[in-house]
Amino acid sequence: MKRRVTKAIFPVAGLGTRFLPATKSVPKEIMTLVDRPLIQYAIDEARAAGIKEFIFVTSRGKGALEDYFDHSNELENTLRKKGKMDLLETLKSTNMDSGAIAYIRQHKALGLGHAVWCARRLVANEPFAVILPDDVIAAEKPCLQQMVEAYEETGGSMVAAMEVPSEKASSYGMLDVKEDMGTIVSVKGMVEKPPADEAPSNLAVIGRYILSPKIMQNLNKIDRGAGDEIQLTDAIAQEMNEDRDVFGYRFSGQRYDCGTKAGFLQATVAFGLARPDLGPEFSEYLESMVALRNAAQ
Ligand code: UTP
Repeated sequence: MKRRVTKAIFPVAGLGTRFLPATKSVPKEIMTLVDRPLIQYAIDEARAAGIKEFIFVTSRGKGALEDYFDHSNELENTLRKKGKMDLLETLKSTNMDSGAIAYIRQHKALGLGHAVWCARRLVANEPFAVILPDDVIAAEKPCLQQMVEAYEETGGSMVAAMEVPSEKASSYGMLDVKEDMGTIVSVKGMVEKPPADEAPSNLAVIGRYILSPKIMQNLNKIDRGAGDEIQLTDAIAQEMNEDRDVFGYRFSGQRYDCGTKAGFLQATVAFGLARPDLGPEFSEYLESMVALRNAAQ
């Protein structure tokens, strides 16, 4: 089986209800951290990992996403005429080559597993990555790149794993570990959103995957699971039932859950502080805000 991963699926068909009313007209993935939409962070990470084909699973109302990756000739010409070359370069970095990006519609939000399955014909018989753009990961070496390098050694399927406190286990898919080899763990089971005292480990799955094409066949057969949705976790668990390898990868980096308001705000602060052009002023402002709050208490 080929171990080079060149295709990635970006499931972006969810309703984004936790950000209503904003998501009534703005796709969640277009919301910006400082000045770049969430989807741009995901695309940059995929590119760094060697991904060449970008498959978006979209839904009604996500037209702004398609426009975002289109060339904007008018805007480019205006910036060129005005000599704003740095902005022109920034703009060009969002352009995608013709044919590199494909859009598939998920007609009903039947869950992450179903969204991935919608891309089955484009994936064909190759391993593929899945990136959930609302998990943003700040890392020296981008998370998917770390995983692709590890996957070249292990094969099988691989999920990004992160340690979480036990009271948070019920928000994640949790890994049942067969063997802990440090950065990589081999997995014997996965439990979706278990109560704290039933979590098999403290390792949670977050939104980066490298999957064997067999997962698509598993998804064909899977019934609706937790939340009446077709769960990707169930299809990955099927791999283990059929004795195929699944690994968890403890990535290095800081993950922000930008699917929640609190996570989005934390990411905004962290990315704002990390920007050389904004960090010093922003940091001063935050310190003054904290001092004001403390004085008022
Ligand atoms: P979430 O669980 O965050 O759901 O999906 P959501 O709809 O985006 O947001 P909330 O919970 O209503 O606020 C995780 C990822 O799976 C995609 C989402 O777009 C997101 O990237 N997804 C989810 C689909 O593509 N289709 C689905 O049917 C469900």
